[in-house]
Amino acid sequence: MALQSQDFEYFSNLIKEKSGIFLTKDKDYLLESRLHPIVQKYGLGSLNQLAVYCRENKEGSLFEEIVEAMTTNESLFFRDKKPFDCLKDIIIPRIIGKCPDKRHIRIWSAACSTGQEPYSIAMTIMEDPLLASLTFEILATDVDRNVIDKAQAGKYSQFEVQRGVPIHYLIKYFTQEGEDWCVKDVLKQRIKFTKFNLLDKPNFSSKFDIIFCRNVLIYFDAQTKTNIIMNMESALEPHGALLLGCSENVFGIDGTGFSNLKNGEGGLISGVFVTDK
Ligand SMILES: C[S@@+](CC[C@H](N)C(=O)[O-])C[C@H]1O[C@@H](n2cnc3c(N)ncnc32)[C@H](O)[C@@H]1O
Repeated sequence: MALQSQDFEYFSNLIKEKSGIFLTKDKDYLLESRLHPIVQKYGLGSLNQLAVYCRENKEGSLFEEIVEAMTTNESLFFRDKKPFDCLKDIIIPRIIGKCPDKRHIRIWSAACSTGQEPYSIAMTIMEDPLLASLTFEILATDVDRNVIDKAQAGKYSQFEVQRGVPIHYLIKYFTQEGEDWCVKDVLKQRIKFTKFNLLDKPNFSSKFDIIFCRNVLIYFDAQTKTNIIMNMESALEPHGALLLGCSENVFGIDGTGFSNLKNGEGGLISGVFVTDK
């Protein structure tokens, strides 16, 4: 049975309220394909019946399952490469230049999915001899418990490591277990994984020097995106940096102090914003 429009509205409102993910009407096929396994799991006959079941039961864990089914968790090691080069070559040296006594860098990977992003950040810093005098810690969060569990386990298939991990990093930071590759403790211990919903106000013990919030804002509407950017700004130290996906930006958001970071030649670095001029 085709999805009725009031049920599409019910699910899209539920998903937006719980995660910020915004589904336009043309995404009904996505709703159908992603929620089909839940329909089957609960022994229901259709998505319409799932809507009835949700309305009657209002189970938090079922709502969580629905949100988790709708998240897009695509990620890869050293995704887009440039942000990681920029981190070691420009962003961290810039922070040290502004705060010469700083010896410890706090980084938040705010939609870390299955962990490739925080592990890539850690390898980038650990591999740069110019950053050897610094200590660092990474907080890695996501709304989806399943991806956090996978990230924390640090176990990747051959296919996953082939997508981005240079061979010498693979040998140095992973051990092979059967067909899989497991992140070594030396890397894992730099990262704390926990569940966090970007719709909530960050309330962490200290502020961050750098926030990665890449390839997630595209799923939100303008108001949600604005709220998240504002929250990120207040979670950053004065000379902090926010790294978004290459096609994401803070343009058009009133009231933020972010400006686009420039490279040595004065060119704008796409997706990288700083909280001072
Ligand atoms: C496409 S992945 C991006 C992963 C990584 N940042 C990268 O660039 O490769 C988007 C991630 O955002 C997460 N996400 C979606 N809505 C979220 C929310 N409200 N709070 C936290 N994470 C969210 C999803 O679960 C998913 O893992």
